[in-house]
Formats: sequence, C-alpha cells, structure tokens
Amino acid sequence: MITSEKPVYAPGEVDFDTLDETPEDYRRMLRTLIGKQYVGEIAACEMFARAAYHLPEPGRKAALVHTADEEAGHVEMMDALARKVGLDVDAWLARRRPGGSHFLGSEEDVTDWIEVSVFKHLIDRCGRVWLWSMRNSSFKPYGAVIGPILRDEARHGQDGAEEVVRLCEAGNREAVQERVDYWFPRGLQLLGKPGSEGNRTAYRYGLKLHDSDEEMAKWIGEIKPPLEQAGVALPTPQRVREHGVDLAGVSW
Ligand SMILES: [Fe+2]
Ligand SMILES: [Fe+2]
Repeated sequence: MITSEKPVYAPGEVDFDTLDETPEDYRRMLRTLIGKQYVGEIAACEMFARAAYHLPEPGRKAALVHTADEEAGHVEMMDALARKVGLDVDAWLARRRPGGSHFLGSEEDVTDWIEVSVFKHLIDRCGRVWLWSMRNSSFKPYGAVIGPILRDEARHGQDGAEEVVRLCEAGNREAVQERVDYWFPRGLQLLGKPGSEGNRTAYRYGLKLHDSDEEMAKWIGEIKPPLEQAGVALPTPQRVREHGVDLAGVSW
C-alpha cells in the first residue's frame, strides 16, 4: 500500500446526511468512483445483452440474458446512488462508449462466445477485485451495495472460468489464448496506475483499501489457476509493459 497513514474516515462513517460535512475532494473522489462503476455496469449490461442477440444457441442466449439482467440490477443500484451523491449522470453518460466498446476502447463490440467467456473470467473478475478494494467504504451507502454486487460478479467470473476450461478441452485453446493475450493487459489498465494521486486520495479517505498493484496481484492470483488448468498462459510481464502498463513490482 502507498501509505501506512490511518485513513481520515472509518468504514461506514459517512452517510447521506453527513456527506456535506466532508471535504470537497472527498466528494469528488466518491463521485469519480461511483461514476466509473456506473458506466462500467451499463456497458457490461449492454454487452451481454447484445452478445445474447448475436449468439444462436438457446442455452447461451439464456445464460447471457440472465447475466445482462443481473448487470441491469447493478445499474439500478448505481443510478440511485449516483443521483443521491450529486453525480452529473448526464455528463458521464454523454462521454461513455456503449456496450463492449467501453472495455475495448474502440468502436468494436463483443459478439463471440469465446470472447464473452474470456471476458467473464478476466474482466468480470477484474471488476470484482476493484470492488473488493472498496468493500469497507467510508461512505456507508456505497459499502451497502458492494456486497450484493460482489456476489453476482464472483458468479460471473466462475461461469467464465468453467467455460474457458471447457472451450479449451473442446479444441479452442488457440482462440482462447489469443483473447487472453488481448484482455489481460486491458484488465491491468482498468485497475489503474499503482501509487497514483487518485489511489492515494481514495485510501486517505477510506474509500479504497488497496492500491492498484495489490489489486493486480490479487486479480492475477484468481485468474491464473483456471487458465493453467486450461493450458493457457498469461502474457509475460515484459510483453505487458510493452502495452504501456505500469506494473510497479507486480510479477507472475
Ligand atoms: Fe456488474
Ligand atoms: Fe458482471
């Protein structure tokens, strides 16, 4: 962690009625974290729903519609929270990319079952680790929604891991490896830059418990065993650094 200093606020110490008493940079950081999660939940919901539209098999459609429905539940929770803390929801929505393009950072979308499965194993778990870092938020109403969302995201990640192993056993190892090579650096980027000013502020105010490097290490520890079981390797730290990812001291 970036500092051993005790956070200014304890878990659950700030509520809606005491939010106005917090410093401006507390509220700004809180809104940033909520805004980031809010647009991520919307994008995930749209991405799974669109993938369900593109995939012909009934069983896969049903699975994806169910996942999209759970993401829609997360959107509702985050929307209520965002409006109550004064987040400029319209501004956040105006600058976001829809569906899978939010995570891809391009105009493309995610419409393929292998891509969806790798995404669930890697990126749903990445989101879960990011939320895990905020599990004891000093802002009580945020902490209250994180528990139920974490449970859903854990299941999405588990479904993805099981499907990745099945896909590799069924002869798709090369395609899975190719998508892992693509999504792994993106997942690390989504976790942010270790030691950043934002991480320091979030920690100081009890809004996050961990820095990005700790989140990266935890994430890698979770995604690696099923990939090893599937015979798929993570790109090397050197290759990841070539994507411009700051790994601090994280290795695997
Ligand atoms: Fe979600
Ligand atoms: Fe999810």
